[in-house]
Amino acid sequence: MDTFNNFLWGAFPWLAIAAFVVGIFWRWRSDQFGWTTHSTQIYESKLLRLSSPLFHWGMVFVIIGHLMGLAMPKSWTRAVGISDHVYHWIATIPGSIAAVAVLLGFVGLVYRRVVNRSVFLSTSTSDKVMYVLLGLALLSGSIATFTLQLFDLGGTHGYDYRETIAPWLRNLLIFNIQPELMSNVPWQFKVHVLAGFTIIAVWPFTRLVHAFSAPVGYVTRPYVVYRSRDQRTTDMRHHVAWEPVRSHRAQLDKNETPSHGA
Ligand code: HEM
Repeated sequence: MDTFNNFLWGAFPWLAIAAFVVGIFWRWRSDQFGWTTHSTQIYESKLLRLSSPLFHWGMVFVIIGHLMGLAMPKSWTRAVGISDHVYHWIATIPGSIAAVAVLLGFVGLVYRRVVNRSVFLSTSTSDKVMYVLLGLALLSGSIATFTLQLFDLGGTHGYDYRETIAPWLRNLLIFNIQPELMSNVPWQFKVHVLAGFTIIAVWPFTRLVHAFSAPVGYVTRPYVVYRSRDQRTTDMRHHVAWEPVRSHRAQLDKNETPSHGA
């Protein structure tokens, strides 16, 4: 059992981190043209316009929540006068709202992929695997937050992951592996942490790589100028290859008209 726990809470997370780092490097070097969202906006935009911002903005808050809860030791929030009870609600209320937004967005994105034929046909095997694993990470995180933190079904007045999961993770990252910190963690969080590291492991081999190419340049790039091709506003270009056939023929006829004086 010890070996199994050492694997789950020592080796597996590091294997996932290694796959992520090496995979991102390999993908960047070998697949520049595939480093894209593989956008399907051209096939369907109504549902996408709603689901995509719900999912992505929800994820921004989920990531901020993870950084706050996992990276910051309890002593820091106590030092600035935030009690553990207040911290619990600062984390749980926005966390639950973010989880609802992410889940609604995710369901919308998957729904349009299934019901829109063109979007469905452009869905690769890597997309399908990615959706299942991402769904697992989102669902398990949300179940943990709703059952234990929001509705207190564990009877713990909110599970204090800042005593177990957070120090376990911080120590793991500095190679001080302490699987015993994870042994009494509720199953909901155990499943979530494993699902989280699984999606991290496959990240580089999916379309999720686009997360590292957020289009920030859009804000400062020059305008793209579109000009009308309306005849009243544009000059006709006199290039034979692009002229309409009839006017080209007329031009030839004019040039070939025999001069009677010759
Ligand atoms: C990319 C992978 C991951 C995704 C997509 C993800 C997603 C989520 C979601 C949607 C929630 C519920 C909303 C919230 O409370 O913020 C959540 C909660 C949580 N996740 Fe993750 N997670 C990931 C990785 C991880 C990892 C690796 C850990 C720990 C090592 C972790 C620890 C937690 C904890 C402790 C909570 C509860 C936060 C709270 O209720 O205050 N997550 N996660």
